[in-house]
Amino acid sequence: MGHYLTELDLSATQTDALLTFAAALKAERARGVLRTDLAGRSVALYFEKPSVRTRVSFTVGVRELGGDVVELSGGTTKVGKGEHPEDFARVLGRYAHAIVARVFEQQMLEDLARAAGVPVVNALSDILHPCQALADALTIRERKGSIEGLRFVFVGEGNNVAASTGTLLCALGAQVWVASPRGYGLPDWVRKRCHGLPGELHSVESVQGAVEGADVLYTDTWISMGREAEAEARRRIFADFRIDSALLAAAPDAIVMHCLPAVRGEEIDTDVMQSERSAIWDQAENRLHVQKALLLRLLAPSAVP
Ligand code: CP
Ligand code: NVA
Repeated sequence: MGHYLTELDLSATQTDALLTFAAALKAERARGVLRTDLAGRSVALYFEKPSVRTRVSFTVGVRELGGDVVELSGGTTKVGKGEHPEDFARVLGRYAHAIVARVFEQQMLEDLARAAGVPVVNALSDILHPCQALADALTIRERKGSIEGLRFVFVGEGNNVAASTGTLLCALGAQVWVASPRGYGLPDWVRKRCHGLPGELHSVESVQGAVEGADVLYTDTWISMGREAEAEARRRIFADFRIDSALLAAAPDAIVMHCLPAVRGEEIDTDVMQSERSAIWDQAENRLHVQKALLLRLLAPSAVP
């Protein structure tokens, strides 16, 4: 049973092939080609946290492949409030052919995967966001031609997005720099996981030291879902960890990325988001293409070249 719970669940070679397939699906869609590979199949989408991009891109993606989705939000189930995640997963697996889940705890995904009997895909947890990482890697490949050797600079918290995209890019041979305020950097387990990967991973406490020569500047919200109670303190702590036009000027070859949703004027300025160097909108679109490729790999491998 294949699952996609972390960005290291596929090898670098498998990820590379998946990105190539996603690019082909993107080109196919632009030509208006219709697919039916998931006809008769249903995907359960389970959300414990809010979402726009993930919800819409999975829904549209499955339907474009001829399948259907059923959506459940945390407020409409008793999972974790009586019903055990394994019982929930076992039942969902009798109805649906895959489960895509956005959760607080990564352990929840492990519980679902153990019992579901169908593939489980991580649509974000507190610590990882591997589908975002795939879309980010595709976007960088499109803009820069390749990933190996690129200098990728993440500005902000060493959070779920920094962990997944940083790790995936490290696996694909990039030099990854994560610049965060003291106490908010990548956790040790992420750095340990990257030992032995072909790229490099550096955690630093100053943006200025990392930005020179950057090929990609990336940021994410200072206040991830679930951290709202710390908002005021975080706005002070992260005030220097933002992408504005001065930072862009210090990295003249860099494209700008953000997983969205962004808080304009906090971690990124509006004019930067809308500048020619912004890859943000392609990045959001690419969620659709990489997730279609991933679902076909998991559910209809004969459709994958
Ligand atoms: N980037 C991302 O996952 O967006 P949503 O939270 O809107 O799904
Ligand atoms: N780090 C953000 C990512 C949102 C897609 C969060 O977890 O809220």
